[in-house]
Parts: sequence; C-alpha cells; structure tokens
Amino acid sequence: MVAADPSLFYTGLVADAYAPLRSTVPDPEPYERFVRRYGEPALELGCGTGDPLLALRAAGLDVVGLDSSADMLERCRAAALARGIEVELVHQTMQAMNLDRRFRSIYLAGPTFQLLVEPDACHRALVAIGRHLEPDGRALVPLFVPEPEPPDAIGRWREHTASDGSVLRVAVLHDDHRVDERLQHRLLRYERVVDGDLVDSVEQVWSLRWFAPGEFAELVAQAALEVDVVLAEGGHPTSPDSPAGAFVLRHP
Ligand SMILES: C[S@@+](CC[C@H](N)C(=O)[O-])C[C@H]1O[C@@H](n2cnc3c(N)ncnc32)[C@H](O)[C@@H]1O
Repeated sequence: MVAADPSLFYTGLVADAYAPLRSTVPDPEPYERFVRRYGEPALELGCGTGDPLLALRAAGLDVVGLDSSADMLERCRAAALARGIEVELVHQTMQAMNLDRRFRSIYLAGPTFQLLVEPDACHRALVAIGRHLEPDGRALVPLFVPEPEPPDAIGRWREHTASDGSVLRVAVLHDDHRVDERLQHRLLRYERVVDGDLVDSVEQVWSLRWFAPGEFAELVAQAALEVDVVLAEGGHPTSPDSPAGAFVLRHP
C-alpha cells in the first residue's frame, strides 16, 4: 500500500471530513508562545482548515498559512471570513515553497512533517525551511512515534452527524505498521451518508514516517540547520537525538 501523492491526501471528501472527524484540535497556546518568543512574521506549514493559524491571527499575530491542499485552504478561507479574520494563505508544498520572503518563526502545528514519507522530501522541506528562516529565527517541528492501530479498532467507524442529519464517517480498514522501516501505511475509508443513503465514498492510503534516535538531527544537519533545543511533553528539554518531541531548529 503506497499513497499516490501524500501532499494531496486532504482533498474532496477527506477535506470535508477532516475538521468534523479529527480526534483533537491543536491547542493554539504553545504556537502563540513560540511566535511571541521568536518573533514575527511567522509561517504555519500545513495550516489546513486553520487551527491554530486563525487563533493566532485573532490574537493579532502576523502569521501566514501554507498548505498543499487547495480544498483545505478553501475551508480555511471560509472559516476566516465567518470569523472576520484577515489571513494570507499560500497554496504550495513545504518542500517546494518559494515565498520570496523570510520569517522569524516557522512552525508546524502537530506532526505534519511526518507526512513527508520520502527521505528526499524531508531533506527538501528542511532546506526550504532554512531558506525562509531569518538568520536569528527559529523553526518548530513536532515529531512523535506512532503506535499501531489496535486490532479491535480496525473497521470501526468514527462518525459525525451534521445539523442537517447527514453523516460523515471514517474507518481504518488496514494498518501496515512497519517498525523496521519506521513507516506506517493505513488504508482509510471515508463515507458520506444522507437520509440513510451512501452518497459519496473514497478509500485512500494515509502514510506516516517516524525517525530513529538521532536520525532527524542528522537530516537537520544535512540541510545546513541545527537543533537548538528539543522539548519533551511538559516542556522539559530532552536529547537532540530523541525520536520524539518539539524540535526547535535554527541556523548554525
Ligand atoms: C493533519 S492536517 C493539519 C491541518 C490543520 N492543523 C488543521 O487544523 O486543519 C495536515 C495538513 O498538512 C497539509 N500537507 C500535507 N502534506 C503537505 C506538504 N507536503 N506541504 C504542505 N502542506 C502539506 C495537508 O493538506 C493538511 O491540510
């Protein structure tokens, strides 16, 4: 199982289902603190439908959003309009981004970097981050080590019923969790049900990679950046060789 183009996973029915079905909404506080500490302008990579980007904009911070999915950005634009928030959105991939300007803070709000399953894409994304980072700026890349889907959760629907009674739902049909390769490919099925009828469905592979101890720090060095600090859950500094944590990067 290999996804066609991982940067286009969040389109169509998947983009419709993303916000209603996500298991957690990112808390804006750590990202707001990061931008206040390292400065503006800031750039959120993989901003999707706008969490936490729009909360930071509402708090008055100068933050631009970038995402590879036009469908996610359309939903972000609509959410911004509904909340009366002005926001600049860029439709590019983080590995090929070219914004003609630099930022004091660049961050990913969650482990979106791990959607870059190809090593070359990781390298190009880190090089692009370096190219867009002010000399004294910082970039924040959160990483985690995923667990396999529990067998009893395979095929189980997670659903959301809208106010008009229509249902959006998603289930993991198959989980290919390759510890040796540090790669996970999950076959997901999304459905939309209206008045009891299945009106739309799609099956797509969602892939994620993770890093061996020291591997991410090595990739960072290959992109001519360095790890400033890694924060473990709870905000305590941990080893730069850790496979998980909030990695704060800077120019050497
Ligand atoms: C898990 S979602 C997070 C979305 C956002 N935090 C939200 O609340 O809507 C990941 C986002 O990253 C985007 N994405 C995936 N690969 C990308 C890439 N290579 N470059 C830029 N964005 C990417 C997806 O389109 C999606 O919107």
